[in-house]
Amino acid sequence: MIPKETLTKIDGNRHRYVDELLGFLRIPSVSTYTRHATDVRRAAEWVFNHLRRLEFQSKLIETERHPVVYGEHCPYPDGPTLLIYGHYDVQPPEPLEEWITPPFTPSIRDGYVYARGASDDKGQFFTYLKAIEAVLAVTGKLPINVKVLVEGEEEIGSPNLGPFLKEHKNQLKADVVAVSDSSQFTQGIPAVTYGLRGLSYLQLDIQGPRIDLHSGSFGGLVANPLQVLADMISKLKNPDGSIAIPNFYDDVLPLEDWEREEMASLPFDETHLKEYLGVAGLVGEADYSPMERKTARPTLDVNGMWGGFSGEGAKTVIPSKAGAKVSMRLVPNQKPDVINKLFKDYVRSLSPDGVKVQISELHGAEPVLVSRDQASVRAAAKAIEIGFGKAPVFIREGGSIPIVNLFKEVLDLDSILLMGWGNPDDGAHSPNERFSLDDFHHGIRSAAALLYELAT
Ligand code: BES
Ligand code: MN
Ligand code: MN
Repeated sequence: MIPKETLTKIDGNRHRYVDELLGFLRIPSVSTYTRHATDVRRAAEWVFNHLRRLEFQSKLIETERHPVVYGEHCPYPDGPTLLIYGHYDVQPPEPLEEWITPPFTPSIRDGYVYARGASDDKGQFFTYLKAIEAVLAVTGKLPINVKVLVEGEEEIGSPNLGPFLKEHKNQLKADVVAVSDSSQFTQGIPAVTYGLRGLSYLQLDIQGPRIDLHSGSFGGLVANPLQVLADMISKLKNPDGSIAIPNFYDDVLPLEDWEREEMASLPFDETHLKEYLGVAGLVGEADYSPMERKTARPTLDVNGMWGGFSGEGAKTVIPSKAGAKVSMRLVPNQKPDVINKLFKDYVRSLSPDGVKVQISELHGAEPVLVSRDQASVRAAAKAIEIGFGKAPVFIREGGSIPIVNLFKEVLDLDSILLMGWGNPDDGAHSPNERFSLDDFHHGIRSAAALLYELAT
């Protein structure tokens, strides 16, 4: 059990922790933009220096793209070991004009800090560093061995972390991994997440005539790539909202009755959600509830489409090219590789003569379900109860964390704790991303409590 003094210490340092977080949030570590590579590195160094100050044996390890930061404090040769994972990279902040204050000038309003990465994932990950600091300050030691692994490529699909795990398999050996990169059920109802969706993300490029053409001189002779693309995209889904790709649902693990009942018992507020989204109604598969649809059923979305003329006024033109980005969220036991192939075969079967269709894979993630029936999960629930003053509910989430499955496969780690301190309306990946300062504080308390709960 965590000593009272440690919680008191955390409560007393609340404002300093926030100040320090602001420094982290000022670094524009957008992993997908090559022009931000040095900023991404600065964020890595920021974490590295922090770990060193905590007297963790730390290193900054180069990969093909962005560095991995690793630190460990393992005084107990036979003691239990916790591996903490987080990411210091962030999504692009655009559209900039939507931000009330600039994305990398963190600003505090009404008990929230607003900045890109505030919730996803800098603010959530940072809670562990402050928890460790407080435990060390009060007791001079950690109750268990702790390893910290922080990457800068999560938002681009963690392309180099899989190989990294394989290469450092021995050093990363642990009993439990903790990841705080998801959400509570809703404000005031903390959660342990036991499922994540996977991801298949592809790009379609359609090439028609060699050059853009006068639509009067050539209309009626050539296939229009934008029209072809629109036709294809319209055939990806059925009118009832289900996905039309043949065999797409073959491997979907059906929801069990207990799980549907448990999901139905959560206080899901549809009116509030519609208000937040600014939509009059929700859509989707008729036989499934909104909670089921957004966490435990697969989906397909067009993320962007381009081609032709979209500037001011009118231009009579047949575009030479068109393109789209399409992503699918997957659920157990769907496999991104299998789904990519089904998608490609189907889209190719839809391709008419007169255009070239190229399909490329962008990134992917395996879906995850973790076992709830284990001591570490009970420890996590207890820690959250201490930290937030409220016991957590169990939820599945719709987002993806590519590396989680590899913790299982490469590191043989069955004990995976997904404990999100964020909120579904934090605006992750959206303009005006924010993180509640209360959640930040409760997260630090929970992270500290977890170290003790895992020791017993
Ligand atoms: N933190 C999210 C994942 C997440 C979101 C988990 C919501 C639970 C609820 C993560 O940073 C993320 O955005 N992942 C990407 C993965 C992709 C870039 C491979 C995602 O889900 O789109
Ligand atoms: Mn994240
Ligand atoms: Mn993210």
